[in-house]
Amino acid sequence: MTKPLKIALLGCGVVGSQVVRLLREQESDLAARVGAPLELVGVAVRKPGRKRDAEIDPALLTTDAESLVTRDDVDIVVEVIGGIEPARSLILAAMASGKSVVTANKALLAEDGATIHRAARENGADLYFEASVAGAIPLLRPLRESMAGDRVQRVLGIVNGTTNYILDKMDSSGASFTDALEEAQALGYAEADPTADVEGFDAAAKAAILAGIAFHSRVTAADVHREGITEITAADVASAKAMGYVIKLLAICARSDDGRSVGVRVHPAMIPRSHPLAGVREAYNAVFVEAESAGRLMFYGAGAGGAPTASAVLGDIVAVARNRIANTRGPEESTYADLRVHPMGESVTRCHVSLDVADKPGVLARVADIFAKHDVSIQTVRQEGRGDDAQLVLVTHRASDAALSATIESLREMDIVRAVAGVMRVEGDETP
Ligand SMILES: NC(=O)c1ccc[n+]([C@@H]2O[C@H](COP(=O)([O-])OP(=O)(O)OC[C@H]3O[C@@H](n4cnc5c(N)ncnc54)[C@H](OP(=O)(O)O)[C@@H]3O)[C@@H](O)[C@H]2O)c1
Repeated sequence: MTKPLKIALLGCGVVGSQVVRLLREQESDLAARVGAPLELVGVAVRKPGRKRDAEIDPALLTTDAESLVTRDDVDIVVEVIGGIEPARSLILAAMASGKSVVTANKALLAEDGATIHRAARENGADLYFEASVAGAIPLLRPLRESMAGDRVQRVLGIVNGTTNYILDKMDSSGASFTDALEEAQALGYAEADPTADVEGFDAAAKAAILAGIAFHSRVTAADVHREGITEITAADVASAKAMGYVIKLLAICARSDDGRSVGVRVHPAMIPRSHPLAGVREAYNAVFVEAESAGRLMFYGAGAGGAPTASAVLGDIVAVARNRIANTRGPEESTYADLRVHPMGESVTRCHVSLDVADKPGVLARVADIFAKHDVSIQTVRQEGRGDDAQLVLVTHRASDAALSATIESLREMDIVRAVAGVMRVEGDETP
């Protein structure tokens, strides 16, 4: 055994307190796996007097995070404060003084990953961040290391447990969005202010991180097309169900057909009930990766929560500790492909459209003509008469999002279309 490796923990909330617990409870196993004891030497928090979910020696607590990250005896800094500042400055200070860094901070990596990765490279520091996407699920390391010999075509996933819980409740019980959100809040799956989750910001940050790694390019949160789930109605969910689909909030990172650009988007979409992602219930996460040689892979598990997320943090701590002992480093950020991130209009998807139309001869032909004018072909169409009115439900083949949007706009302007009752993208059942 070599001398102990010393750990400074920044933040001791939901995730941090579980990191403290696991470091203590697994002390001897961790030492055996690393080849040296792991010793927690300081915990930076905002309010030292606060009651915490883990027993902590009060002498370890400090509000002076800056001094802690630059202490000479610290080897590894674990950042689980969250947000942009002071997390960014603390991570940069830690790297500048030669520490290895483990973080769970998706917001920071998606907004300013370039600065953090550059600092890691310039200082020769390790930077591991498995817990930043999909909690406990090993996903970034498989993409970054196990799949380094393959060519990823698409990453399609459910990466936000709160919205999956809400949509699952709407699907299984017919509840409205508001009722399902209230239930999620009562059970602790959604925060009092649910904006980051229900408007898709959290999923967009994760999509940016996933896309950057999968396509060896720099992708930030600002590059991600984002739509949330607040507009989804019980009627949308019921109509999807009637057609054998389920609505999920998906993060989709896809290479363009010519391979020269990538699209990164977060939005609700209908997927067939037979698709593996359709079976992802409650607050679980799952990510489907399609690669040229590996084919289709699926990663599934708990995407959040103190202990599951701490499991991923501990895995990273062990990795950086082993690297320090071996006097080596993990892989650096890889952005050599430098692919353009294309706008949403260039992304290729399918669409489910339901129209309230006048029930007259020739209506279907005129509607079909609008789709043809925009070069969008129709896969299925269903018409139901209701006296003077009829409902037309159409599902398209693959087309650019720009062509699909233009088609919808033209349909809205038609005199025979009384209302465009519903529009939803469809994913998951086309040949890639
Ligand atoms: N919670 C999850 O399920 C989950 C899942 C995946 C990733 N993550 C990520 O993990 C990170 C932490 O999340 P969390 O849920 O554990 O957050 P949290 O419960 O709000 O805990 C944040 C901790 O940071 C401390 N803190 C805040 N500002 C500070 C400052 N200026 N200096 C020192 N300490 C400060 C707080 O101190 P006090 O306790 O004294 O207030 C608290 O202990 C975030 O990046 C989050 O995105 C969380």
